[in-house]
Amino acid sequence: METNISKIGVFTSGGDAPGMNAAIRAVVRTSIYYKKEVFGITQGYEGMIAGDIVKLGTRSVGNILQRGGTILKTARSLEFKTKEGRKKAYDNLKKSGIDSLVAIGGDGTFTGLTVFYEEFGVPSICIPGTIDNDIAGTDYTIGFDTASNTAVDAIDKIRDTAISHNRLFFIEVMGRNSGYIALNSGIAGGAVAIIIPEDNITIEELFAKLDEGGKTNKKSSLIVVAEGSKLGGAMDLAKKFSERNNYFDIKVTILGHLQRGGTPTYFDRVLASKMGVAAVEGLLNGKQGTMVGIRDNKIVYNPFATIVNHVHDIDNEMLRIAKILSI
Ligand code: F6P
Repeated sequence: METNISKIGVFTSGGDAPGMNAAIRAVVRTSIYYKKEVFGITQGYEGMIAGDIVKLGTRSVGNILQRGGTILKTARSLEFKTKEGRKKAYDNLKKSGIDSLVAIGGDGTFTGLTVFYEEFGVPSICIPGTIDNDIAGTDYTIGFDTASNTAVDAIDKIRDTAISHNRLFFIEVMGRNSGYIALNSGIAGGAVAIIIPEDNITIEELFAKLDEGGKTNKKSSLIVVAEGSKLGGAMDLAKKFSERNNYFDIKVTILGHLQRGGTPTYFDRVLASKMGVAAVEGLLNGKQGTMVGIRDNKIVYNPFATIVNHVHDIDNEMLRIAKILSI
């Protein structure tokens, strides 16, 4: 491959996601396979600004494929939002001789990289790593499958106790702006209702749904709520329900950050491996200024402009399925 790229910097940024380590490993080993040098930048843009950069080799990424979190650590950097911060980052890259970048993260990471790419022209490519699955241009992001499995595992356990006590549970899952984890884990966990930011269900409709269940002798129910629900979080909803109806014994579980950790599933490890290889090959083949995605099980490269400020629309078919099955 004819290219000017010889020193690749890799970093993780934004919320961590299971499978990020598998992606780092794939980026490092693919770079070395193509006889390029590769450097890890710690704590995302924060490390770039501080010059926290280390050379990586094949053995530096041994025994990490199966580990959650990110060995490079991560951060959400406020300083990188400033021109001065980005200039410091650029100067540090130059000092280390890094001539190209692979970023693993979510929408905030990509927005930062788009600005940086426009300002300094460092050849860059992104890999979508976030549990939220909210990135346009890819069917799946790294970490979503693992987080959804974690949520389903928790929902199954809560179901056992909910049935035993005839209780109504509100289970809150992550997803500030996205209902993907809620929708998929809600279907897989048999929720009676799934409340997501993308849907317009009203509180009255939700009350009616529970009343219907009461008529058919349903004694316990699970409602899965995405963190970013427009009707409020699990706590708010539980309060509204208890004010309206004291028939139900209501409990709330907020799954929180446990969804971000743990061993990545087989699916996330394979996805991360494919995307890591594709990112380096994309860089070497002139596909800079893009994000690697997977569409219909094939690798695609999306220009930054088509992913930044766009959302991954929720799958309406999944919403329809959830409604049919929750009667
Ligand atoms: O972007 C992933 C995510 O886990 C969201 O679902 C959640 O809203 C957010 O990160 C939490 O961020 P932090 O860990 O910074 O509190």
